Amino acid sequence: MDLRFKLNGREQSVSIAQDRRLLWVLRGELGLVGCKYGCGEGYCGACTVIVDGAAVRACQFPAREAAGREVLTIEGLAKDGKLHPLQQAFMEHDALQCGFCTPGMILAAYSFLLNNHKPDRKAIIAAMEGNLCRCGSYVRIVAAIQAAARRMYGG
Ligand code: FES
Ligand code: FES
Repeated sequence: MDLRFKLNGREQSVSIAQDRRLLWVLRGELGLVGCKYGCGEGYCGACTVIVDGAAVRACQFPAREAAGREVLTIEGLAKDGKLHPLQQAFMEHDALQCGFCTPGMILAAYSFLLNNHKPDRKAIIAAMEGNLCRCGSYVRIVAAIQAAARRMYGG
């Protein structure tokens, strides 16, 4: 089938098999390898991308369901050569070691902050529960998200 959707702000058209998952369309057909293949079963969050503002697990998400919608991947987050505040904060707080979980972490946090402008630590921990980091960078990840929220929304 021919899949048309908006990807990182641009209209995109790609030919896919009906049962293809979004992760493989992004990584394979479209070459966007920022979304990671971790567990492949919906548990780790490494493959998180944004569809119409909501975080989804691309390894489970049927690509055909992206038709006519807006998909944001980590490659589309920086604007005009400027990192998104979340990306900046992850760097400043050393919120990564190997970096494998980082795109999924940042996009899950991005979606969370759209509706939660001044989250406390507890709320961030609860929201990020489904994103796993094998390197155990959780404390710094939470600090980075809190710092980014302050930068984006004040407080
Ligand atoms: S790779 Fe999708 S949730 Fe783990
Ligand atoms: S930084 Fe290595 S998995 Fe999170």
